[in-house]
Amino acid sequence: MTEPMSPAHATFMRDVIAGLQRTPKTLPCKYFYDERGSALFDEICELDAYYPTRTELAIMERHAPALAQHLGPRARIVEFGSGSSVKTQLLLDALVDPVGYVPVDISREHLLATAERLRERYPQLDIQPVVADFTKSFEIPASPEHPASTWVYFPGSTIGNFEHDEARRLLARMASLAGRVGGIVVGVDLDKDRATLELAYDDPAGVTAAFNKNLLVRLRDELGARVDVDAFDHIARYDATRMRIEIFLESRTHQSIALAGHEFALAPGERILTEYSHKYTLPALTDLAAPAGLRLAAHWTDPDSLFAVACFDVDTATED
Ligand code: TRP
Repeated sequence: MTEPMSPAHATFMRDVIAGLQRTPKTLPCKYFYDERGSALFDEICELDAYYPTRTELAIMERHAPALAQHLGPRARIVEFGSGSSVKTQLLLDALVDPVGYVPVDISREHLLATAERLRERYPQLDIQPVVADFTKSFEIPASPEHPASTWVYFPGSTIGNFEHDEARRLLARMASLAGRVGGIVVGVDLDKDRATLELAYDDPAGVTAAFNKNLLVRLRDELGARVDVDAFDHIARYDATRMRIEIFLESRTHQSIALAGHEFALAPGERILTEYSHKYTLPALTDLAAPAGLRLAAHWTDPDSLFAVACFDVDTATED
Protein backbone atom coordinates (compact mmCIF):
# COMPACT_ATOMS: atom_id res chain seq x y z
CA MET A 1 0.00 0.00 0.00
CA THR A 2 2.71 2.49 0.95
CA GLU A 3 4.99 3.54 -1.85
CA PRO A 4 8.65 4.05 -1.01
CA MET A 5 9.21 7.69 -0.08
CA SER A 6 11.48 9.80 -2.23
CA PRO A 7 14.06 11.82 -0.27
CA ALA A 8 12.17 15.04 -1.13
CA HIS A 9 8.93 13.53 0.14
CA ALA A 10 10.60 12.33 3.35
CA THR A 11 12.05 15.81 3.97
CA PHE A 12 8.65 17.40 3.36
CA MET A 13 7.08 14.96 5.85
CA ARG A 14 9.78 15.58 8.46
CA ASP A 15 9.55 19.39 8.11
CA VAL A 16 5.75 19.35 8.41
CA ILE A 17 5.74 17.14 11.52
CA ALA A 18 8.44 19.28 13.16
CA GLY A 19 6.46 22.44 12.35
CA LEU A 20 3.18 21.12 13.74
CA GLN A 21 4.92 19.94 16.93
CA ARG A 22 6.09 23.49 17.62
CA THR A 23 4.21 26.04 19.76
CA PRO A 24 2.82 28.01 18.04
CA LYS A 25 2.40 25.62 15.13
CA THR A 26 4.12 26.49 11.85
CA LEU A 27 4.30 25.15 8.31
CA PRO A 28 7.43 26.00 6.30
CA CYS A 29 6.73 28.52 3.54
CA LYS A 30 9.14 26.99 1.06
CA TYR A 31 6.46 24.33 0.42
CA PHE A 32 4.04 26.87 -1.02
CA TYR A 33 5.52 26.42 -4.45
CA ASP A 34 4.42 23.11 -5.93
CA GLU A 35 2.87 23.29 -9.41
CA ARG A 36 -0.51 24.50 -8.17
CA GLY A 37 1.10 26.87 -5.66
CA SER A 38 3.36 28.36 -8.32
CA ALA A 39 0.37 28.88 -10.62
CA LEU A 40 -1.56 30.55 -7.78
CA PHE A 41 1.42 32.75 -7.00
CA ASP A 42 1.60 33.81 -10.67
CA GLU A 43 -2.07 34.75 -10.30
CA ILE A 44 -1.32 36.76 -7.14
CA CYS A 45 1.32 38.69 -9.07
CA GLU A 46 -1.37 39.82 -11.53
CA LEU A 47 -3.75 41.12 -8.83
CA ASP A 48 -4.38 44.86 -8.39
CA ALA A 49 -3.97 44.40 -4.64
CA TYR A 50 -0.52 42.76 -4.95
CA TYR A 51 1.68 45.71 -5.93
CA PRO A 52 5.22 44.29 -5.35
CA THR A 53 5.68 42.33 -8.59
CA ARG A 54 4.51 44.97 -11.05
CA THR A 55 6.33 47.70 -9.10
CA GLU A 56 9.62 45.81 -9.13
CA LEU A 57 9.18 45.07 -12.85
CA ALA A 58 8.57 48.77 -13.54
CA ILE A 59 11.71 49.70 -11.57
CA MET A 60 13.73 47.16 -13.54
CA GLU A 61 12.28 48.33 -16.86
CA ARG A 62 13.18 51.89 -16.10
CA HIS A 63 16.54 51.47 -14.37
CA ALA A 64 18.06 48.29 -15.79
CA PRO A 65 20.50 50.35 -17.91
CA ALA A 66 21.83 52.17 -14.82
CA LEU A 67 22.01 48.90 -12.90
CA ALA A 68 23.83 47.24 -15.82
CA GLN A 69 26.30 50.09 -15.92
CA HIS A 70 27.09 49.58 -12.26
CA LEU A 71 27.56 45.83 -12.74
CA GLY A 72 29.87 46.39 -15.71
CA PRO A 73 30.74 44.24 -18.71
CA ARG A 74 31.41 40.47 -18.54
CA ALA A 75 29.36 39.98 -15.37
CA ARG A 76 28.12 36.62 -14.12
CA ILE A 77 24.68 36.53 -12.49
CA VAL A 78 23.71 33.97 -9.84
CA GLU A 79 20.00 34.05 -9.06
CA PHE A 80 18.59 32.69 -5.78
CA GLY A 81 15.08 31.22 -6.25
CA SER A 82 14.90 31.93 -9.95
CA GLY A 83 11.31 30.83 -10.64
CA SER A 84 10.44 31.84 -14.18
CA SER A 85 13.17 34.53 -14.35
CA VAL A 86 11.02 37.31 -15.86
CA LYS A 87 12.85 40.09 -14.01
CA THR A 88 16.17 38.48 -14.82
CA GLN A 89 15.53 38.90 -18.54
CA LEU A 90 15.28 42.66 -18.03
CA LEU A 91 18.65 42.52 -16.30
CA LEU A 92 20.28 40.19 -18.85
CA ASP A 93 18.95 42.31 -21.74
CA ALA A 94 20.58 45.41 -20.25
CA LEU A 95 23.95 43.91 -19.32
CA VAL A 96 26.93 44.51 -21.58
CA ASP A 97 28.43 41.22 -22.67
CA PRO A 98 27.25 39.08 -19.70
CA VAL A 99 29.20 35.81 -19.52
CA GLY A 100 27.20 33.57 -17.24
CA TYR A 101 23.86 32.94 -15.59
CA VAL A 102 23.41 30.48 -12.72
CA PRO A 103 19.74 30.11 -11.76
CA VAL A 104 19.33 28.32 -8.43
CA ASP A 105 15.97 26.83 -7.54
CA ILE A 106 14.47 24.04 -5.44
CA SER A 107 11.95 23.09 -8.15
CA ARG A 108 13.87 20.99 -10.69
CA GLU A 109 11.41 20.79 -13.62
CA HIS A 110 10.59 24.47 -13.51
CA LEU A 111 14.30 25.35 -13.29
CA LEU A 112 15.38 23.17 -16.20
CA ALA A 113 12.49 24.40 -18.38
CA THR A 114 13.43 28.01 -17.65
CA ALA A 115 17.11 27.31 -18.39
CA GLU A 116 16.16 25.80 -21.77
CA ARG A 117 14.03 28.81 -22.65
CA LEU A 118 16.80 31.23 -21.72
CA ARG A 119 19.40 29.26 -23.69
CA GLU A 120 17.35 29.90 -26.80
CA ARG A 121 17.05 33.57 -26.03
CA TYR A 122 20.69 34.08 -25.00
CA PRO A 123 22.80 31.69 -27.10
CA GLN A 124 26.04 33.46 -26.08
CA LEU A 125 25.39 33.11 -22.38
CA ASP A 126 26.78 30.21 -20.37
CA ILE A 127 23.71 29.02 -18.40
CA GLN A 128 24.39 26.60 -15.54
CA PRO A 129 21.23 25.79 -13.54
CA VAL A 130 21.73 24.49 -10.00
CA VAL A 131 18.98 22.49 -8.29
CA ALA A 132 19.34 23.45 -4.64
CA ASP A 133 17.49 24.72 -1.59
CA PHE A 134 19.18 28.10 -1.29
CA THR A 135 18.33 28.29 2.41
CA LYS A 136 21.10 25.69 2.88
CA SER A 137 24.69 25.99 1.68
CA PHE A 138 25.44 24.74 -1.83
CA GLU A 139 28.20 25.01 -4.43
CA ILE A 140 28.03 26.66 -7.81
CA PRO A 141 30.07 25.35 -10.75
CA ALA A 142 33.16 27.28 -11.81
CA SER A 143 32.62 29.49 -14.83
CA PRO A 144 34.67 28.62 -17.92
CA GLU A 145 34.39 32.25 -19.03
CA HIS A 146 36.50 34.23 -16.50
CA PRO A 147 33.79 36.70 -15.49
CA ALA A 148 34.90 40.22 -14.57
CA SER A 149 32.51 40.17 -11.59
CA THR A 150 29.89 37.96 -9.93
CA TRP A 151 26.56 39.28 -8.70
CA VAL A 152 23.90 37.43 -6.75
CA TYR A 153 20.45 38.54 -7.91
CA PHE A 154 17.70 38.11 -5.31
CA PRO A 155 14.47 39.76 -6.52
CA GLY A 156 10.87 39.49 -5.35
CA SER A 157 11.48 40.65 -1.76
CA THR A 158 12.11 37.02 -0.89
CA ILE A 159 14.66 38.37 1.62
CA GLY A 160 11.58 39.51 3.57
CA ASN A 161 10.43 35.94 4.04
CA PHE A 162 13.37 35.27 6.37
CA GLU A 163 13.75 36.32 9.97
CA HIS A 164 16.58 38.77 10.50
CA ASP A 165 19.20 36.27 11.73
CA GLU A 166 18.50 33.95 8.85
CA ALA A 167 18.48 36.84 6.38
CA ARG A 168 21.91 37.94 7.65
CA ARG A 169 23.29 34.42 7.19
CA LEU A 170 21.83 34.28 3.69
CA LEU A 171 23.41 37.63 2.78
CA ALA A 172 26.77 36.38 4.10
CA ARG A 173 26.57 33.31 1.85
CA MET A 174 25.64 35.50 -1.11
CA ALA A 175 28.60 37.77 -0.41
CA SER A 176 30.95 34.81 -0.30
CA LEU A 177 29.58 33.50 -3.61
CA ALA A 178 30.23 36.91 -5.15
CA GLY A 179 33.84 36.58 -4.02
CA ARG A 180 36.08 39.63 -4.19
CA VAL A 181 34.61 41.46 -7.17
CA GLY A 182 30.85 41.90 -7.37
CA GLY A 183 28.05 41.95 -4.86
CA ILE A 184 24.33 41.47 -4.63
CA VAL A 185 21.27 43.01 -6.24
CA VAL A 186 18.23 42.62 -4.02
CA GLY A 187 14.60 43.56 -4.54
CA VAL A 188 12.90 44.58 -1.32
CA ASP A 189 9.39 45.62 -0.35
CA LEU A 190 9.52 48.93 1.55
CA ASP A 191 7.67 49.58 4.79
CA LYS A 192 4.32 51.35 4.32
CA ASP A 193 0.82 51.80 5.69
CA ARG A 194 -1.11 48.88 7.14
CA ALA A 195 -4.08 49.04 4.74
CA THR A 196 -1.95 48.70 1.61
CA LEU A 197 0.05 45.85 3.11
CA GLU A 198 -2.88 43.87 4.47
CA LEU A 199 -4.78 44.16 1.18
CA ALA A 200 -1.73 42.89 -0.73
CA TYR A 201 -1.70 39.73 1.41
CA ASP A 202 -5.45 39.22 1.62
CA ASP A 203 -6.98 40.10 -1.74
CA PRO A 204 -10.76 40.38 -2.22
CA ALA A 205 -10.80 37.63 -4.87
CA GLY A 206 -9.36 35.13 -2.39
CA VAL A 207 -6.41 34.05 -4.51
CA THR A 208 -3.99 34.60 -1.64
CA ALA A 209 -6.26 32.60 0.66
CA ALA A 210 -6.22 29.72 -1.85
CA PHE A 211 -2.42 30.01 -2.11
CA ASN A 212 -2.04 29.80 1.67
CA LYS A 213 -4.50 26.90 1.99
CA ASN A 214 -2.64 25.06 -0.78
CA LEU A 215 -0.19 24.03 1.96
CA LEU A 216 -3.01 22.06 3.61
CA VAL A 217 -4.00 20.60 0.24
CA ARG A 218 -0.42 19.34 -0.16
CA LEU A 219 -0.49 17.79 3.32
CA ARG A 220 -3.69 15.98 2.38
CA ASP A 221 -2.81 14.93 -1.17
CA GLU A 222 0.93 14.30 -0.93
CA LEU A 223 1.46 13.27 2.67
CA GLY A 224 -1.88 11.51 3.16
CA ALA A 225 -2.89 13.74 6.07
CA ARG A 226 -6.46 13.84 7.26
CA VAL A 227 -7.20 17.55 7.33
CA ASP A 228 -10.34 19.61 6.71
CA VAL A 229 -8.97 22.34 4.42
CA ASP A 230 -12.24 24.30 4.52
CA ALA A 231 -12.17 24.52 8.31
CA PHE A 232 -9.31 27.04 8.16
CA ASP A 233 -9.31 30.77 7.43
CA HIS A 234 -6.53 32.71 5.75
CA ILE A 235 -5.24 35.52 8.00
CA ALA A 236 -2.76 38.28 7.08
CA ARG A 237 -1.87 40.82 9.80
CA TYR A 238 0.67 43.61 9.78
CA ASP A 239 2.82 43.88 12.90
CA ALA A 240 4.08 47.47 12.68
CA THR A 241 6.59 47.05 15.53
CA ARG A 242 8.29 44.12 13.85
CA MET A 243 7.68 45.64 10.38
CA ARG A 244 6.27 42.42 9.00
CA ILE A 245 3.17 40.84 7.56
CA GLU A 246 2.33 37.65 9.41
CA ILE A 247 0.40 35.00 7.53
CA PHE A 248 -1.56 32.28 9.28
CA LEU A 249 -4.06 29.49 8.77
CA GLU A 250 -6.62 29.90 11.53
CA SER A 251 -8.70 26.99 12.76
CA ARG A 252 -12.45 27.67 12.75
CA THR A 253 -13.26 24.84 15.13
CA HIS A 254 -11.94 22.20 17.48
CA GLN A 255 -10.30 19.84 15.07
CA SER A 256 -7.18 17.84 14.45
CA ILE A 257 -4.77 17.09 11.65
CA ALA A 258 -3.84 13.41 11.50
CA LEU A 259 -0.50 12.69 9.87
CA ALA A 260 1.74 9.63 9.90
CA GLY A 261 0.46 8.37 13.24
CA HIS A 262 0.50 11.82 14.85
CA GLU A 263 -2.61 13.72 15.86
CA PHE A 264 -2.24 17.52 16.02
CA ALA A 265 -5.14 19.09 17.91
CA LEU A 266 -6.25 22.64 17.15
CA ALA A 267 -8.47 24.84 19.30
CA PRO A 268 -10.98 27.25 17.69
CA GLY A 269 -9.05 30.39 16.67
CA GLU A 270 -5.68 28.65 16.94
CA ARG A 271 -3.28 29.78 14.24
CA ILE A 272 -0.67 27.96 12.21
CA LEU A 273 2.05 30.39 11.11
CA THR A 274 2.88 29.89 7.43
CA GLU A 275 4.95 32.93 6.50
CA TYR A 276 6.47 36.22 7.52
CA SER A 277 6.97 38.93 4.96
CA HIS A 278 9.30 41.49 6.52
CA LYS A 279 9.28 45.01 5.17
CA TYR A 280 12.41 47.16 5.11
CA THR A 281 13.60 50.71 4.98
CA LEU A 282 16.85 51.31 3.11
CA PRO A 283 18.73 52.07 6.35
CA ALA A 284 17.39 48.84 7.91
CA LEU A 285 18.46 46.85 4.86
CA THR A 286 21.88 48.53 4.87
CA ASP A 287 22.34 47.54 8.52
CA LEU A 288 21.27 43.97 7.78
CA ALA A 289 23.85 43.66 4.97
CA ALA A 290 26.76 45.38 6.72
CA PRO A 291 27.99 42.37 8.79
CA ALA A 292 28.35 40.43 5.50
CA GLY A 293 30.75 43.11 4.27
CA LEU A 294 28.16 44.46 1.83
CA ARG A 295 27.99 48.21 1.22
CA LEU A 296 24.99 49.91 -0.39
CA ALA A 297 26.28 51.25 -3.71
CA ALA A 298 23.10 52.32 -5.49
CA HIS A 299 19.37 51.87 -5.29
CA TRP A 300 16.32 52.59 -7.40
CA THR A 301 12.70 52.95 -6.38
CA ASP A 302 9.26 53.76 -7.87
CA PRO A 303 7.61 57.21 -7.63
CA ASP A 304 5.54 56.09 -4.60
CA SER A 305 8.50 54.44 -2.83
CA LEU A 306 6.64 51.15 -2.56
CA PHE A 307 9.59 48.95 -3.50
CA ALA A 308 13.34 49.23 -3.99
CA VAL A 309 16.01 47.48 -6.00
CA ALA A 310 19.26 47.85 -4.08
CA CYS A 311 22.76 47.08 -5.21
CA PHE A 312 25.39 46.21 -2.60
CA ASP A 313 29.09 45.88 -3.41
CA VAL A 314 31.38 43.42 -1.69
CA ASP A 315 33.37 45.86 0.36
CA THR A 316 36.96 44.72 -0.09
CA ALA A 317 38.22 48.03 1.31
CA THR A 318 37.58 46.84 4.86
CA GLU A 319 39.66 43.66 4.39
CA ASP A 320 43.37 43.52 5.24
N1 TRP B 1 7.64 36.60 -1.28
C1 TRP B 1 6.22 36.95 -1.35
C2 TRP B 1 5.99 38.11 -0.39
O1 TRP B 1 6.35 38.05 0.74
C3 TRP B 1 5.37 35.76 -1.05
C4 TRP B 1 3.89 35.99 -0.88
C5 TRP B 1 3.10 36.84 -1.52
C6 TRP B 1 3.04 35.28 -0.01
N2 TRP B 1 1.80 36.71 -1.10
C7 TRP B 1 1.76 35.76 -0.19
C8 TRP B 1 3.25 34.27 0.91
C9 TRP B 1 0.68 35.27 0.57
C10 TRP B 1 2.18 33.79 1.63
C11 TRP B 1 0.91 34.26 1.46
O2 TRP B 1 5.45 39.12 -0.80
